[in-house]
Amino acid sequence: MPIGITALGTYVPTRVLTNKELEGMFDTSDEWIVSRTGIRERHLAAEDEFASDMGVRAVNDLSARYPGVLEGVDMVVCATSSPDALFPSTAAIIAGQVGLNGAGALDVLVACSGFMYALSVAQGMVLAKTATKVLVLGAEALSKILDWTDRTTCILFGDGAGAAIVEEVPEGYGFQSFVLGADSTGGPSLYKFAVADHIPGVPVGTGAMLGMNGREVFKFAVRVLGDSGEKAMNKAGLSGSDIDWMVPHQANVRIIESACGRFGVPLEKTVINLDRYGNTSTASVPLALREALDDGRVKDGDQLLLVAFGGGLSWGASAMKWYGGAGRKVAVQEQELVVK
Ligand code: UT7
Repeated sequence: MPIGITALGTYVPTRVLTNKELEGMFDTSDEWIVSRTGIRERHLAAEDEFASDMGVRAVNDLSARYPGVLEGVDMVVCATSSPDALFPSTAAIIAGQVGLNGAGALDVLVACSGFMYALSVAQGMVLAKTATKVLVLGAEALSKILDWTDRTTCILFGDGAGAAIVEEVPEGYGFQSFVLGADSTGGPSLYKFAVADHIPGVPVGTGAMLGMNGREVFKFAVRVLGDSGEKAMNKAGLSGSDIDWMVPHQANVRIIESACGRFGVPLEKTVINLDRYGNTSTASVPLALREALDDGRVKDGDQLLLVAFGGGLSWGASAMKWYGGAGRKVAVQEQELVVK
């Protein structure tokens, strides 16, 4: 029984923070940020807008694109690096606000790899018949956990959310492989305290806000994006030339370029939108994929490779055949409406 994504919605807050504005906040330049990362601007949540709010708005977008899509959802899985609270889960808060009270709800906390892990959790639940239709979210209010005086970290991130439906798909579509992993030796390279106010290996007095050793994460990311992507392709019996579109975690264009070289997927077949959103952690893969669907790059039956990395340090990759059937149905409905 193949399982896959059948619907995808997204949301980004309206407030845009440009590199030029950052120049007025601390010693940096548009030129430095663009040349080192590829990022030009990012969207920031309003003061009273949190991960759950953005998740709800991504679900609203999902429902607008695929009317009736929430019918039958019996599980909500939310990947987030910036949950509203330790508990209740951000998933439970979102479920309650989109009319899914009573469905199971859990958060997945694997930093920027979280969306890939959440897709895999959803697939497992459907295969085990624990659930039949899972709402999977990546929702982030990262701007709330950034140190806005640390020019090395705060320039990188943005806020936003994605919402997907994972359920049975027709034969020949859906997830073909998952590769998930973590290596705690790199834990001190990317961190944010929760209950304990220390992490082994992290300098005392830091960690209240997101902390990062950029160079270490960079080296790890180049290696792990390539390795996990290659493993996901091998597991599915694929090679780089079979991939129609790679959708990587949107952290740094230089990381993506280096990873492409490692496993033979050309940059022209890679979806990149970090220039306008920055690194939105768990929301980055759904935001990039939705954009590529909207502009017609990704089509029904396309061979996709999704890859992400993040705190843990962690990684997650999946090969999948895109199922565009649900989207086609909506497009036909819209055409009929226009004809009338
Ligand atoms: O989801 C995972 C999240 N994290 C990542 O993906 C981070 C991965 N790492 C990176 O993207 C890069 O390491 C950064 C973009 C964070 C930094 O780029 P880099 O080329 O590794 O720069 P660097 O840390 O080696 O710093 C080079 C110089 C330093 O100055 P000195 O010591 O050479 O005088 C920094 O102080 O650049 C300076 N610098 C800046 N200058 C202007 C650091 N941040 C800035 C800035 N503007 N915003």
